[in-house]
Amino acid sequence: MEPVKIGLLGLGTVGCGTATVLERNASEIGRRAGRGIQIAAASARDIERPRACDTSGMRLTTEPTEVVDDPEVQVVVELMGGEGLAREMVLRAIEAGKHVVTANKAMIAKHGNEIFAAAQARGVMVAFEAAVAGGIPIIKAIREGLAGNRIEWLAGIINGTGNFILTEMRDKGRDFADVLGEAQRLGYAEADPTFDVEGIDAAHKLTILAAISFGIPLRFDDVHCEGIGHIAREDVAYADELGYRIKNIGFARQNEDGVELRVHPTLIPEKRLIANVDGVMNAVLVRGDAVGPTLYYGPGAGAEPTASAVVADLVDVVRALTSDPENRVPHLAFQPDAIVERPI
Ligand code: NDP
Ligand code: HSE
Repeated sequence: MEPVKIGLLGLGTVGCGTATVLERNASEIGRRAGRGIQIAAASARDIERPRACDTSGMRLTTEPTEVVDDPEVQVVVELMGGEGLAREMVLRAIEAGKHVVTANKAMIAKHGNEIFAAAQARGVMVAFEAAVAGGIPIIKAIREGLAGNRIEWLAGIINGTGNFILTEMRDKGRDFADVLGEAQRLGYAEADPTFDVEGIDAAHKLTILAAISFGIPLRFDDVHCEGIGHIAREDVAYADELGYRIKNIGFARQNEDGVELRVHPTLIPEKRLIANVDGVMNAVLVRGDAVGPTLYYGPGAGAEPTASAVVADLVDVVRALTSDPENRVPHLAFQPDAIVERPI
C-alpha cells in the first residue's frame, strides 16, 4: 500500500525530531499504523539553513499555505508554534478536509473550541498529544485509559523548562538566567521564554487537561496563573533546609460548585514522589473515582520525546484513515456536543 503523505509546518526542534523519528523507526511505525508515513512537503522561514534532520526527500517551501494546499498531503502536522498563523493554517487544512496533528498548546488552549467545532463539522481529526507534557502520553491516558472514571482532580509539573531551572538552582546553585539560556539552547523553552517562566505555558496545558478530564470548554482566561520568575536561589535553598522542594504545580479540581484551575509555585514535602521529579522531567497525578490515584512521568520537552507524541498521533490518524469511514471517530479527544459549561 502507498504510504500516507504528510506535510510538516515547521522544521525546528520538534519538526526535525519528528522527521528523524519517522525515518529511524519507519518499520515499527509502518507496522503499527498499517501503512508507511512519508513527509512529502515541509515549510520553514529559512529553507537554506542547514537542519538537524534529513530533508532531502521533502519539497521545501517558506510558504506554509503551499504545504497545506499540496494535493498530495493528507495530514498536516503543525509544528510552527504561535497562535495567529498556526490557527489560520490549521483551519485551512480542516476546511480542505485534511487531518491535523499539532504540538501547539497555546493555539489549542486559546482557539481549540473554534478548531474542534470546525473539525467536527468537516469530519476530520485534530490530534494534540504532544501539546501537554512532551513525551508523556497523558492525553491518551486520560481519554482512553481512564475513560470509565469521573476525574476528580489532577495535579502536576507540566513545564519542563521551569522545572529544569528550579532543579539546577537547587542542585548546582546556578543562576536563573544562566539555566534559562541553557534550556533555550537545548530546545526546551518556548519561542517566548516568558511563557515558561511566568507559568503561561503550564496554564495552556492545564486548560487542555481540564477540558478533556472534566468535559468543559477550553477556558484559558479562567486559570489563575503564577510563575517562577521571582524565585531566587535563596528561596530554593531555604525550602531545602526546611525539608521541602519548590515546584511550579498545575492543579485542576472539579466539585459540586464548579472547577478550580490554578498554576503556582508550591512547597512540596521532600518525601513526596512529585518533589523528586527533577530537570526537564514532568509528572502528572490524576485521580479517578474508580481507579484512585494514578501517576504519569516522563520527559516534558525536547526534540525526540516530543516527536514520540507527535508520531503516536500520526499513527492514530493513519489507522483511522485506513478504517471504515462510516465508523471513523471524527476527532480524537474533544467532542463539542459533549461539552458542559461549568462555573470556574
Ligand atoms: P522552533 O522555534 O524550534 O521551530 C519552529 C519552526 O517553525 C521553525 O522551523 C520555523 O522556521 C518555523 N516557523 C515559525 N514561524 C514561521 C512562519 N511565520 N512561516 C514559516 N515557518 C515558520 O519551535 P519548536 O519546535 O520548539 O516548537 C514547535 C511547537 O511545538 C510549538 O507550538 C511548541 O510550543 C510546541 N512544543 C515544543 C516542545 C519543545 O520541547 N520544543 C515540546 C512540546 C511542544 P525557521 O526554522 O526557518 O525559523
Ligand atoms: N517549553 C515547554 C516546556 C515545551 O518547557 O515544558 C514542552 O511543552
